[in-house]
Amino acid sequence: MTFSLKKPLLTFAALALLLGTAEVSAAEVNLYSARKDHLLKPVLDEFTKKTGVKVNLLSAAEDQLLERLKSEGANSPADLFITTDVAHLHKARVAGVLQPTKSAVLDKNIPAQYRDPQGYWYGLSARARVIFYAKDRVKPEELSTYENLADPKWKGRICVRSSSSAYNQSLLGGLIAVLGPDKAESWAKGVVANMARKPQGGDRDQIAAVAAGQCDLAIANTYYYGGMQISAKADERETASKVGLYFPNQKDRGAHMNVAGGGVTASAKNKAQAVQLLEFLSGPEAQKTFAEANNEFPVLASAKLAPNVAAWGSFKGETLNVAMLGENSALAVRIFDRAGWR
Ligand SMILES: [Fe+2]
Repeated sequence: MTFSLKKPLLTFAALALLLGTAEVSAAEVNLYSARKDHLLKPVLDEFTKKTGVKVNLLSAAEDQLLERLKSEGANSPADLFITTDVAHLHKARVAGVLQPTKSAVLDKNIPAQYRDPQGYWYGLSARARVIFYAKDRVKPEELSTYENLADPKWKGRICVRSSSSAYNQSLLGGLIAVLGPDKAESWAKGVVANMARKPQGGDRDQIAAVAAGQCDLAIANTYYYGGMQISAKADERETASKVGLYFPNQKDRGAHMNVAGGGVTASAKNKAQAVQLLEFLSGPEAQKTFAEANNEFPVLASAKLAPNVAAWGSFKGETLNVAMLGENSALAVRIFDRAGWR
């Protein structure tokens, strides 16, 4: 997800002022978040109501927050960093801005595949990156696997965003893990050869391009489609109605899964509160919000799917630890470059 920085100077200045002048209280936690405010705010308010721990929220784009954490170093006021996509979580770990934490609650609520094996970050909601197809031009029976998208039968028919997207880097990172780098590179070249147009726009734009007849297939994250299905805007609902969702690789390893999540910062002065907030975010109230307000898959097994998401039907998701996607993301970028996937 890419979000623009809202009122950056004001927000950063306000936080600096707050932290510079106040004693660090045990009953607060400073959160840097790249998630949408409207998604997180109600959950944070609920957390404060329940625990008495105040949350100082600083929202900005993923890369801006990571750069900020790096430049602030040990002096960073941040206690917790929340971001989307394991590629970003991994980058934060490699940059040394996170520290490992242990929590029985997090280990119980979050399946092992969705958390860092050393506890540097925890996935708080899951999403699949899948194939979308034009209902009037493609039969779902023609679809099968991600690998099949490189087949020449799809020449000139695929829309997908740029390789600068962490979502695509993670997708290729997963293919590197299961197919090996050589086959993953052949796949990337095959998809480039099948593109209907130069990569452009975000995931929603790919789905819209399928509906508009510019391409027959798109690759996108599930929650964008879910959001369009239940949009307040009639034209977005109309767009989604022309496009079908297909979960690939159901006969073998399952659909590509990824997470949004968070980790305690290396600089955390309120570590206990940061862990407490992470635990709350993995609990029933927050998981319900991620599922209902953003059409994601909750990581907590007992949390329910949004009705439109449940209507996609049950599917097999890949069980690979998502940390692997992050570990392969740098290689994925080099492969995308060689393949000409701009
Ligand atoms: Fe997103």
